[in-house]
Amino acid sequence: MSDTIQKNHDYKKFVIDSKLQYFKPHATKIEKTFAEEIYFSLGQDSKFIDPKFFYDKKGSELFEKICSLPEYYPTRTEISILKKMHDELSSYIDDDFRLVELGSGTSVKTRLIFDIFTKLQDTIEYFPIDISDILTESSEQLLQDYDNLFITGIVDTYDGGLEFLKTYDDKKNLIIFLGSSYGNFFTNDGFAFLKKINSTMKSGDLFLIGLDLVKDKQILESAYNDSQGITAEFNLNTLSRINNELDADFDLKNFEHFAIYNEDKQRIEMYLKSLVKQSVIISKSNLLLNLEKDELIHTEHSHKFRLTQIDELLNGAGFEIKHTWLDDNKHFSLTLASKN
Ligand SMILES: C[S@@+](CC[C@H](N)C(=O)[O-])C[C@H]1O[C@@H](n2cnc3c(N)ncnc32)[C@H](O)[C@@H]1O
Repeated sequence: MSDTIQKNHDYKKFVIDSKLQYFKPHATKIEKTFAEEIYFSLGQDSKFIDPKFFYDKKGSELFEKICSLPEYYPTRTEISILKKMHDELSSYIDDDFRLVELGSGTSVKTRLIFDIFTKLQDTIEYFPIDISDILTESSEQLLQDYDNLFITGIVDTYDGGLEFLKTYDDKKNLIIFLGSSYGNFFTNDGFAFLKKINSTMKSGDLFLIGLDLVKDKQILESAYNDSQGITAEFNLNTLSRINNELDADFDLKNFEHFAIYNEDKQRIEMYLKSLVKQSVIISKSNLLLNLEKDELIHTEHSHKFRLTQIDELLNGAGFEIKHTWLDDNKHFSLTLASKN
């Protein structure tokens, strides 16, 4: 444990045992509370809810279900690439690397990377960063399955986790950002975030990013409008979360999941559509929300990329691309880059 972190008063440290510790920010470090963010985002003319609020316990469970839906190609495709690239990725890693993951969730795909590390290292140091408490549960599960794993989890935003990492120590990091979560950023914010990752990295560090590629509109729209309605449930769960945590009275029957591919912007756009003209009280945000019939609340978008755009993006943010792996259908990509 580095001295810097022990002195980092922004976080409360939880030591579970010799192999698992995690850090959570103190309330004073959190710039805006959930109530304040909702007050702002639902108070705009174009209403939105930040997608990071999908992931309460129920939302994280629903996301896991989405990952195994027949229509949801990204997870199984990314896993197939991770399996295929195994040997090639090994050639870039040595026994000095720590594995850092942004938005680790249940760390299912991470297991494929642990398999690579296990061949190169006696003990693996894993540093998951996720805003959801799912991180603590999945870390405990991982420790049951891997004897050689040591976990330091950061239950915080990507930004908070990167700040934490920056002052941690001098060990080399492989930072992974899977699941095309990067596609949820707006273009400018995403680019700034890539630069932030780059500035967090030391020379010798590596960055692996999984990005979803532009493809047939039908495939894309089916992936976000599954026949079992799990994505709809996941989307609507955000309103349940606001009801539970912010003392609101959203009636979920008055809303519908709506997802569409915007070809010009190369992104799936996901909304909650108000089925009636209605008013909702969100007590803890001190907000009376008035919605027109058919008014949309934007909850997420998922940008799709062309390979040339990925190169431009990463090069522009100060990375040097080492390798890009694709599946046979060219539906998904994984790109390994170093700091330029
Ligand atoms: C789409 S899931 C991807 C999970 C996993 N990486 C995968 O590829 O399947 C996104 C994960 O990132 C977390 N997350 C979303 N927004 C975040 C943010 N701003 N900061 C930290 N974690 C975030 C969520 O809690 C969730 O576990």
